[in-house]
Parts: sequence; C-alpha cells; structure tokens
Amino acid sequence: MLSILSLTLCAASLVLACSDHTEYHRAKRQIAEKDWAYEASYNWGKINPGKYYELCQTGTMQSPIPLLLTQGLSLNHRPTFNFPETTNGTFRNWGYGPGFNVYTGADITKNPSVTFEENIEDPGTGALSSRNETAYLLGWHIHSPADHSVGGDRSKAELHFVFAKPDGHERAVFAVRIDPGNSESAFFAQLPNPLISWRDAATEKSGVEMNLNLALEEANTFNEFWTYRGSLTSPPCTEGLRWFVARNILFVSNAQMQEILRVSTYSARAEQEVWLHAVNV
Ligand SMILES: *[C@@H]1O[C@H](CO)[C@@H](O)[C@H](O)[C@H]1NC(C)=O
Ligand SMILES: *[C@@H]1O[C@H](CO)[C@@H](O)[C@H](O)[C@H]1NC(C)=O
Repeated sequence: MLSILSLTLCAASLVLACSDHTEYHRAKRQIAEKDWAYEASYNWGKINPGKYYELCQTGTMQSPIPLLLTQGLSLNHRPTFNFPETTNGTFRNWGYGPGFNVYTGADITKNPSVTFEENIEDPGTGALSSRNETAYLLGWHIHSPADHSVGGDRSKAELHFVFAKPDGHERAVFAVRIDPGNSESAFFAQLPNPLISWRDAATEKSGVEMNLNLALEEANTFNEFWTYRGSLTSPPCTEGLRWFVARNILFVSNAQMQEILRVSTYSARAEQEVWLHAVNV
C-alpha cells in the first residue's frame, strides 16, 4: 500500500535514509541497490563525486559525533513526548536489525509526536531566540554497535526514534544506547518472539501494536540528554536534523541482547569531527 505521502517521502530521501521508515518494499529495493556500506563509511564522499554523497565528506554537521560527560548535559531543547498508550505499525528487519514503522495514514500529524524548543537565529544580528516545534514519529530501528560513544565508551546497540516534519522530511532523531544489564526490558519483550524469524528483511508483520512509552521510560524519558545539530548517518548524509542522545542507557537482559545482535548486522557510521554541531546550545 503506497500512499502519496510515502511516495513523496521516498522521492525525497533518494536512498535508504538512516532507516527508510516509509514503505517496506521500497526500502527493500533500496537496500539491494545501495552503493555504500557502513564498513566503508570514511569513503562515502567519493562514491558519487560531485553528487549528493559529497555532503558525507564536506558537511559541517555530520552525525554521529563522540560525546563526553565533561561536556555537561543540555539545559535547552527539552522534549515533551506525546505518545499514545499503543502505536500501530509494521515490525520488520530494516536490513541491519529490528525496526518498526508507524502506520502512517494520509496525515502524518496524527502520529505520535514530540515537541521541543528550537533556536531561531536573527539573520542580521545573529541573536538567538526560540520557538516550539513539533515533529512526528515515523518509526524506530536499531543500529549495532552504537553510533554515539560517550567518553570513549561504545554501547552494544543504539535505538533511533526518527521524527519528521509535517511534510515527511526527517527532522529529529532521539537516540538511546542499549547494553546488557540485570533485568529484562519490557519494551523489547514486546517484539515478535522468537526474534530470529526476523533475521531477513524479507519478513514483516503488520498490525503490530506496541507501547512505545516503555522505551522512553526505560531511558528516563530523556530527562537528561545531549543534543546537537546533525545529519542522517547514511548517504546522502542530509543535514538539518536535531539529534538527542539520552544519558541513560536502556538495559536489556543478556538473552535479549543476544537476540537483538543475532538479527543485526554492523551498522554504525564512523564518528565525525565536531564542527558546527553546537552541542547542547
Ligand atoms: C515551549 O513550550 C513549553 C511547554 O509548554 C513552554 O514552557 C515554553 O515556554 C515554550 N517555549 C516557547 C519559546 O514558546
Ligand atoms: C492497524 O493497522 C492496520 C493496517 O496496517 C489495520 O488493518 C488495523 O485495523 C489497525 N489496528 C488498529 C487497532 O488500529
């Protein structure tokens, strides 16, 4: 079922963007056709010289970046989530690990959402003011290992909640690092069981109802976080996204961690130099 919205989204994102949360079959084709690999992410700018991948090499706000506890946490851009009790969507392997696409009707603004303050810079004086902005959830997917390190420490995986502007373009990513801990994660206990059936991107399960609030709660609802101006973590590395990385790690049991890794493939981009990212500003 290819809605007008997902056509627009796919055309806009050109290739698999982080994870394409639009239309499953399209995403599958994009994985088959893609001309880049995470293992060679240092070289993405050269795959397609002079074309849109160049931003992967020349961009000033590329993601991911290394984070430090000594940077402090953000006092700005505090998010407020508006997630219903259950969210209806399609569970699938996005080609690199587990993923979930929110069922999006014609109006994306009906999706679960997040509101956060964004800076507006006066073009004349450069003075900053702020306004509230709402973005709408397209879905979530898991990268392994984690894209963002903290103080040089890299978690085993990272969950990305991808939010879009009303026109469907990616606008914000809320990232939660995942590591094995002492107890089960109630959020991950909702995934299809056994997860190994979803090792291949060729399988999907629609009409899945998930309580996405559980993931937020297990990450302390982003009460503490880093934020910065960043990009998609895969070609064409489009900028203009605000990243939020939760300070709290989402812990899963050893068995859950192994299940996640069993259906995952290496999917972390090399960390980028910090430049105009305005971390926590
Ligand atoms: C954004 O919304 C929050 C919560 O409603 C409010 O406290 C804050 O003042 C708003 N910020 C702006 C710039 O309107
Ligand atoms: C969930 O979405 C599917 C379409 O993908 C629909 O058939 C089903 O009725 C929806 N379920 C709920 C509870 O909204």
